[in-house]
Amino acid sequence: MRDLTVPEQKEIWDRRNANESFRDLAPDPRVLHYIGDLPQQSRRALDLGCGNGRHLLQLAEIGWRCTGIDWSTEALVQTRQALSGFEQTTSVLNGDFRRTTFSGNYFHLILAIDVIHHGKRRDLERAIAEIKRIKAISGDVLVSLPGMRNAPAEHQADWIEEQTVVLRNGLEVGIPHHFIKEEDIGKLFRTFRKISAERVVLPMPPGVEPLHSMHENEWYWIRLSG
Ligand SMILES: C[S@@+](CC[C@H](N)C(=O)[O-])C[C@H]1O[C@@H](n2cnc3c(N)ncnc32)[C@H](O)[C@@H]1O
Repeated sequence: MRDLTVPEQKEIWDRRNANESFRDLAPDPRVLHYIGDLPQQSRRALDLGCGNGRHLLQLAEIGWRCTGIDWSTEALVQTRQALSGFEQTTSVLNGDFRRTTFSGNYFHLILAIDVIHHGKRRDLERAIAEIKRIKAISGDVLVSLPGMRNAPAEHQADWIEEQTVVLRNGLEVGIPHHFIKEEDIGKLFRTFRKISAERVVLPMPPGVEPLHSMHENEWYWIRLSG
């Protein structure tokens, strides 16, 4: 399968995000736990690829000034709806996680949950460099990335480079997915002073079509600072 153009990818994301299993997705318990541990003093948060706004809402409710970006119009509509009532303290923008227009050293918290692996290795590296650039020096980051055990079987996808596939079927058909190995983490995030990563194997989400995992629903949850 050929690489899709950006407009084609956005169309697929719009359709996928409108699917009710994603539209109604509740916040991830790991993100809730992470937010619960944050310092009381709330400041500026960014959710890269904010989807239905499920995580930004949690932050807005405890007083953070929230920004969400996504390149799917459907996601922007859903996030704006989720954040209605918090218009004074939130902004929801169309944007690409590989290059944003935010000033450097700006956000005290950046979330990138199930997002920045949607591309080739180079796209993931660009997203990480962008996170590093716009994160406040004292800021924190939470990223989730799928592990190689989450990659599909040969017959389900086309491998377009090492560790990157384009799915042949399902709601994310045509979207590139990059899967990481544990040993990639230190290299990918080498510009951060503090990296802590946890490997998690989750049950397949009920009611959600297994999008790519043929082996295990393996994820790395990575906390960064500095
Ligand atoms: C799997 S969803 C995760 C959404 C959200 N982070 C969550 O946890 O519910 C991935 C989201 O990233 C968005 N996305 C994919 N590639 C993007 C890009 N290059 N720039 C901005 N958003 C992108 C999609 O539109 C989609 O809403």
